[in-house]
Amino acid sequence: MRQIIILITALLLGVACQMSAQQCEIVIDTETSLGHASPYIYGQFIEYMGQDIEGGIFDPESPLSDENGIRRDVLEKAKELAPTMIRFPGGTFVKTFHWMDGVGPKDQRRPSKNLIWGGINSFGFGTCEFIDYCRAIGCEPVLVVNLSTGTPDEAANWVEYCNGTENTYYANLRRSHGYEEPFRVKYWALGNEEAAEPDAGRHQDPHKYVEEVWHFIKLMKLTDPTIQLIADGERGIPEWNKIVMEGLDGAVDYISFHGYVSTDNGRPYSIFHKINQVERELGEFHALMQSCSQDSVTNWKKWYRFPPRNKPLKMAVDEWGIWEYQQPPYGTTVTYEWRHALATACYLNALLRCCAFVEMANWAQMVNILAPIRADSQTSVRQTVFYPLKEYRRNTHSEVVSVQTISPEVDNGLQALNAVATINRETGEIVLFVVNILPKAVRARVSIDGKKAVAIRQMTTLTGERIDAVNTLTQPEKEMVSVRTEKPVRHLDDITIPPRSNPNHTRLTYQIRYLK
Ligand code: AHR
Repeated sequence: MRQIIILITALLLGVACQMSAQQCEIVIDTETSLGHASPYIYGQFIEYMGQDIEGGIFDPESPLSDENGIRRDVLEKAKELAPTMIRFPGGTFVKTFHWMDGVGPKDQRRPSKNLIWGGINSFGFGTCEFIDYCRAIGCEPVLVVNLSTGTPDEAANWVEYCNGTENTYYANLRRSHGYEEPFRVKYWALGNEEAAEPDAGRHQDPHKYVEEVWHFIKLMKLTDPTIQLIADGERGIPEWNKIVMEGLDGAVDYISFHGYVSTDNGRPYSIFHKINQVERELGEFHALMQSCSQDSVTNWKKWYRFPPRNKPLKMAVDEWGIWEYQQPPYGTTVTYEWRHALATACYLNALLRCCAFVEMANWAQMVNILAPIRADSQTSVRQTVFYPLKEYRRNTHSEVVSVQTISPEVDNGLQALNAVATINRETGEIVLFVVNILPKAVRARVSIDGKKAVAIRQMTTLTGERIDAVNTLTQPEKEMVSVRTEKPVRHLDDITIPPRSNPNHTRLTYQIRYLK
């Protein structure tokens, strides 16, 4: 029996629109597979930056923290957000991070100035606390090594500290810190934005990066040949990416891409155009990957003493999100409006459509900084972007199939509807994610493999009270986003996506519908 889930996101921008409700088409073709949807596209990133880790996740001074300084309320929200992986500890900060500063008895840790983002880090939340946090959430850790002020030895020792099982100094050090069992950290990233000239990094030249990173790779892989490595890719610098992929082909499993988007002043649709631009760039990156990396690695030197990658190189969009540059100095404590939740859904659709080559993606960041969760010492709230992240994570099936939409143009080539479908081949259930950015209701006819969809089994609606609705720390009890689940049975060959359910408010709606 075929079932379908539809997630609809409707957007009403505060601008006049002459278009009347129009009939749209959503055509699902389950015979055309776009690939496997990796669960790891639903990750988060945390960094020692502002109050993301210290003052957010970890806050020994807060009455809301447990005996280890972990904010209970924030952890509960992080569990609800349910990331499949978390990347730590940076970001740009990693260029100054030495993992030994953050292990062992807390009174012997080495507080130091955060040279990148300001403030002082106690490192009370270090490697072991990070692993505990991932375990509490049930997600995979990703560790980023310091290629700039760190050394290959230091990185390899971190691998041994985390994964060592034998009678070695660093495995024993971990044991002496109370962790008998290895952490089995599988994913390790080789630096962060290494081309960036203003940062504290020192590579900038891709040839130099390749040459230096090889020493890290060798020592890290010789320490644990089972780990998977993420090379540093650079958005918008194909020459860098080409040299890195050719230089490291076979030795690394992923190459990274960072893709933040924002809204241009006075151009509310610009953020959606930028998301489409990210999707195009991901496609171009993939084309380059195909010309620079082998699907299966040949001519591997046995004297490397560790095996090459055994599957095609994939992309890790290991930082993505919405960065509105609102406040000085860096604009990272963004208050997300409901329109940002809609943009988040569009971005998630783009990532799903790129599933053939994007296998990892982390929303940057998790708490307070560019984050779905805000917290001060007394309370915490879910920002608007929390809701699409949560809903997609709960509803995506393992395979993405083709969807075509016919819908009106909203702004300079931007279509009103943005849709993606995922399928569970065993049960036949389809999940369709649809975003409507048209400032009017649309009626859509949905068909699957040429047949009209039959009936709706369940519908979940996420509603923002206004286009600029925000959840705030000052009024944490007043949630501006609501979630409603119904189980209607109705025909779906003519659905209406209602952007304005109350004439006095601009209502923005998510719906999930199950069909049989
Ligand atoms: O997420 C904030 C910063 O954005 C990260 O530190 C850096 O990698 C990126 O430029």
